[in-house]
Amino acid sequence: MGKIIDGKALGLSIREEIKQSVKELKLKGIIPKLVVVLVGNDSASQVYVRNKEKGCLDVGIESQTYNFPSNIKEKELIVLIEKLNSDKAVHGVLVQLPLPKEIDEKKVLSKILPEKDVDGFHIENIGKLFRGETPLFLPCTPRGIMELILSTGISLEGKEAVVVGRSNIVGKPMAMLLLDANCTVTVCHSRTKDLGMVVRRGDVVVAAVGQARLISGDMIKQGAIVIDVGMNRIDGKLCGDVDFDSAKEKAAYITPVPGGVGPMTIAMLLKSVLESANRGMIAG
Ligand code: GUN
Repeated sequence: MGKIIDGKALGLSIREEIKQSVKELKLKGIIPKLVVVLVGNDSASQVYVRNKEKGCLDVGIESQTYNFPSNIKEKELIVLIEKLNSDKAVHGVLVQLPLPKEIDEKKVLSKILPEKDVDGFHIENIGKLFRGETPLFLPCTPRGIMELILSTGISLEGKEAVVVGRSNIVGKPMAMLLLDANCTVTVCHSRTKDLGMVVRRGDVVVAAVGQARLISGDMIKQGAIVIDVGMNRIDGKLCGDVDFDSAKEKAAYITPVPGGVGPMTIAMLLKSVLESANRGMIAG
């Protein structure tokens, strides 16, 4: 039976370090600040944003949320982003996704100054990641997952990694980070023909496909590291993309839902805001 990777505990220890660094920055007169832009009333997004606000409060980062109705005009969002870009007191700007379909998500994200793009979704940051250059910010979930894998002490060198899901937020940047770590990477998704056959190759499996318990234990190679990014609600209960009970019998290490990837995503976001504030101080 596999060991459980405790993302909550790891996230908390990272948050403690951040708390200390924030204190030191405050002594120098800098209060790190994140601004979150939330459009509409998607309940999952509201939960994510609330958790981000709570995370900020906990480590002493100032946070402000703009909550707009779903019929807000793209232009209005862009005007706000431009205002935040030029506000020296703001170190991170995050537009919660998804945006309503009437709004051009790519256009809105492209307006965030890359130096304040703590989500790492601006084309300049994500483009650098894909070109093997160092971006100013990495997307928070894949960055957190690399920390979770690192915490197992297992080397990724030459390993087979299988990413299930191809989103811009998780799947694609995750594949790039695993490639940078010298894994042989396969990206599969909901349309992959024989998903089980592909996933069984994985020494590392990252499930980020958004389908409850799609990845069953019989798809897991003995001794694999299994990372579950899924946040699916079934009868009000949170459940992952991996069938935890059967997968943990095969895996060497596995993340639970909740308490695995989620807390690490928040911890990495806080870290990015802190790094941005530090950079801002150096740049004056
Ligand atoms: N929606 C789901 N995950 C994320 C995330 O990490 N950042 C943003 N901005 N939106 C999301």
